[in-house]
Amino acid sequence: MGGVTNLSQLPAAYIDDPHAVHDLLRAEGPVQEIYLVHGLKVWLVTRYEEARVALTHPSISKNMAQGGWLFEHHTRGGSDRREVAADLATHMLNSDPPEHARLRKLVNKAFTPRRVEMLRPRVEEITKRLLDDMMLDEMNGEGQVDLLDVFAFPLPITVICELLGIPTDDRDSFREWTTTLLSFNPVEVIRKASEEATAYLYAHVAKKRMEPGDDIFSALVHADDAGDQLSEREIVSMAFLLLVAGHETTVNLIGNAVLALLRNPEQLQLLKDDPDLIAPSAEEFLRYEGPINLATFRYTTEPTEIGGVTIPADELVMVSLIAANRDGERFSEPDRLDVTRNAGGHLAFGHGIHYCLGAPLARLEFEVALKGLLARFPDVELAAAPQQLGWRDSSLIRGLITLPVRLNP
Ligand code: HEM
Repeated sequence: MGGVTNLSQLPAAYIDDPHAVHDLLRAEGPVQEIYLVHGLKVWLVTRYEEARVALTHPSISKNMAQGGWLFEHHTRGGSDRREVAADLATHMLNSDPPEHARLRKLVNKAFTPRRVEMLRPRVEEITKRLLDDMMLDEMNGEGQVDLLDVFAFPLPITVICELLGIPTDDRDSFREWTTTLLSFNPVEVIRKASEEATAYLYAHVAKKRMEPGDDIFSALVHADDAGDQLSEREIVSMAFLLLVAGHETTVNLIGNAVLALLRNPEQLQLLKDDPDLIAPSAEEFLRYEGPINLATFRYTTEPTEIGGVTIPADELVMVSLIAANRDGERFSEPDRLDVTRNAGGHLAFGHGIHYCLGAPLARLEFEVALKGLLARFPDVELAAAPQQLGWRDSSLIRGLITLPVRLNP
């Protein structure tokens, strides 16, 4: 490719098959200057080793409150986007030590593998109910369904909303707001969604102060770590981060995994023959087609060397997690799905202090969902030709727009 690569000029090809573009970039060097949509210039890291270095480098910061001016410098309209979302962005994923540890500590306990395992019966119940509904629709002659819509979306959304004590009736609004805020929309559309979500969450804080429940939101409102309390804005931001993470990630782990299995029937057979393989195979699905392409924005606080390339101070750095996970130097035959391989060490959940807080929950949801689906609908098949499947127009999320399947009960 040579020189500065302009990904904003190849959206369709890149969205359909980012792996082909990443292969070229990775072969060219560990770090490149590229342009993303809206002409945003970033330094993109595509190799595994360098990705780990960038994700933990002391002079690569996540504190966008300080680095926010970079957006004004690099993008048109970027400052507007930042301003409207300010109340939703004061969270741990946008902070550096020691602030990061302070915020993470207050929710950490709720997401340990042991605490999450206690949610298993409830996750199984929700999964069973969704599968029952799918069976009923099937008997009513629906024939073909969008698996994302009827199964992969509602499962994680229901779980995270229950954990946060968000009433069932309000869940559709959250799905709309998070989808709007993560897509490229005109500023006024972003502003409206942002204001509505913010107002809702502030009202929810007030409600949980008056009537605390047995949920994480109430715990955050009343959190007191040796006298340290979260400010109102910090609670709203934290809840928003958890809701977005709960809405936009696990759905695509399930969707991408089902698609990969339907395209690789011999791998599907292995899981059907031995359902005990399903839980450990989560790592291979996370490696092979993880739900997040680019990790969130980072910037250099001083000139920083990554893989022999010196990135000047005050530049944006992005790490492609899906590119790192297909680096042949780290994983042999990286483009081959192999549910029996040890894919440990993949970067789909990030690396370092911002390593995904929800990883144990995502793994649990994946295991229960896939076990349930394959047990109830073992003959599920794709109801669209591969070239008819569309991927979401996002450099952050790697996920399908719809996943049409025939359940064949
Ligand atoms: C952070 C991936 C599910 C909550 C992250 C990061 C990644 C990630 C890559 C780090 C981003 C960066 O460093 O720029 C995923 C994937 C998921 C998933 C692939 C599903 C398969 C969840 C769920 C929750 C969650 C269900 C909520 C309970 C978080 C939080 C952070 C985070 C709070 C920020 C942690 C910090 O800054 O210390 N996730 N996530 N994630 N994730 Fe997840």
